[in-house]
Amino acid sequence: MNIVIFGPPGAGKGTQSNFIAKKFQLHQLSTGDLLRKEIKNQTKLGNEISSIINSGNLVSDQIVSDLIEKYISNSIYKNRLIFDGYPRNLNQATNLDNLLKKYDQKIDIVLKLSVSLKTIKKRILERSTLEQREDDNEEIAVKRFKTYEKNINPIIEFYEQTNLLKTVNGETTISEINNEIRGLIGGIKG
Ligand code: AP5
Ligand code: MG
Repeated sequence: MNIVIFGPPGAGKGTQSNFIAKKFQLHQLSTGDLLRKEIKNQTKLGNEISSIINSGNLVSDQIVSDLIEKYISNSIYKNRLIFDGYPRNLNQATNLDNLLKKYDQKIDIVLKLSVSLKTIKKRILERSTLEQREDDNEEIAVKRFKTYEKNINPIIEFYEQTNLLKTVNGETTISEINNEIRGLIGGIKG
């Protein structure tokens, strides 16, 4: 089973992916985490992308496509991936379909977490006291939210056409959201 989870910054993608990964023995593939690792390790790529990420913009489609293909092409992860933060625009959504086809896989369910900007600001402010993410301040969080809003409608339409899209209210507690997602995934496992 391969799962896509998307939603605005601070929606709970990472929190819920982590839970789903453990529950269903899947691998959490967070493009944000992979990109931050490159920055932390000061790789050539990391140095190229740090200013883009820290200003709340998207890095190029090619960069993230190359990162995710490494996982999709690896038989260890075959049909065991949760895409946390990918796709972020229509081009990435069609690219993901093509990459999965190339390696004889598909998406089984797409989860959209809906959260208001007010809640996002609150969560990101809270997290900024716990973690040192350079993009976790109010100004950049709003920028990240705007980037999300600008690109998201075509993705929603794309997945509505395939009947894979399930929208989850991301405003409730972590465990309530866990339960809802578990039910949705249980439903497709049949
Ligand atoms: P990324 O790392 O994906 O950041 P994001 O989308 O802004 O989302 P976050 O990781 O901030 O939030 P989350 O939804 O994972 O929430 P979390 O579970 O942590 O991307 C960062 C950057 O990388 C992008 O801006 C872009 O530059 C680049 N990038 C990444 N992917 C890319 C792509 N595909 N293409 C191009 N560029 C890309 O929760 C947030 C906080 O809230 C936590 O403290 C958590 O404990 C708390 N919380 C979670 N759920 C709840 C709840 N229900 N109630 C109360 N608190 C909660
Ligand atoms: Mg995250």
